[in-house]
Amino acid sequence: HSVGIIGAPFSKGQPRDGVEGGPDVIREAGLVEKLKAQGCSVKDYGNLAFEEVTNDEPVGNVKRPMAVGCANERLSAAVRAIKLDGHTSVMLGGDHSLAIGSILGHAAAKTDISVVWVDAHADINTPLTSHTGNIHGQPVSFLIRELQSKIPVLPSFSWIKPCLSAKDIVYIGLRDVDPAEHYILKLLGIKAFSVSDVDRLGIAKVMEQTCDHLSTTVKKPIHLSYDIDALDPSIAPATGTPVPGGLTYREGLYITEHICQTGLLSAVDMVEVNVKRGRTEDEIGNTVSAAVDLIQSCFGKRREGNHSADYQMP
Ligand code: ARG
Ligand code: MN
Ligand code: MN
Ligand code: MN
Repeated sequence: HSVGIIGAPFSKGQPRDGVEGGPDVIREAGLVEKLKAQGCSVKDYGNLAFEEVTNDEPVGNVKRPMAVGCANERLSAAVRAIKLDGHTSVMLGGDHSLAIGSILGHAAAKTDISVVWVDAHADINTPLTSHTGNIHGQPVSFLIRELQSKIPVLPSFSWIKPCLSAKDIVYIGLRDVDPAEHYILKLLGIKAFSVSDVDRLGIAKVMEQTCDHLSTTVKKPIHLSYDIDALDPSIAPATGTPVPGGLTYREGLYITEHICQTGLLSAVDMVEVNVKRGRTEDEIGNTVSAAVDLIQSCFGKRREGNHSADYQMP
């Protein structure tokens, strides 16, 4: 695997401090070294710099539209370049509003992509349905073609052209879905596996059905957008919007192991790790190491064990 890492220390898609520290803590936990040790070639593109945006007044309910729009435009160019360089892109967030730029940049390089969105939340509020006004709860709405008649004009969002059809995205891990979001999922027939579905089917069937759904005709490159709050707060507590009853560590890793095995993984987002939300060093450490484990698993690290093709027994 050839991996290109881009850090996006951005938090203005939501109100809580600390999520901009995600890229650095995940690197400090040894991400690059660990990926190299498992045989990946890694290029670290560093962190993006986002300029301060002044006079970023809310538009209706929507908070910080200009900062979010500008940061994502920059991120999309960076992810596009990483893809054109031939790497699998790994975007370290930052909050989940960054999926806008990451997915659009990926789609700009690859044309047709599919998305696996692993999250407690659907993040498909439109600017008009959002109760919080936080754009990290809205990114998917800007990307789905079938929703565009419902999206109002926002400053710094004019560069955004939707790149997904409703059939191109599958959700896993949902357990905190707003009424408007639930309506949209049903209206558009979007495939979604809530944690109840994981309980009923087991994670193995969920992954089988996820891949069946996404590759009925052509096999498109997969964009895995992983919100760390998909995991149960007992294993990943340091995040801004934890929700009880989440995926176990084992289920979380089963998802990445399975997607790795498809050979179609083309870009990954790891978002919403917020070190200021951990109450103890342990809570922070567990959350960060879960994020690192998931990324390692995306690139071939298996729980059954690994050995390289040229291994010689002494
Ligand atoms: N549904 C809520 C909202 O729209 C919560 C979204 C949480 N999103 C996240 N990326 N953690 O504000
Ligand atoms: Mn979430
Ligand atoms: Mn809400
Ligand atoms: Mn999310």
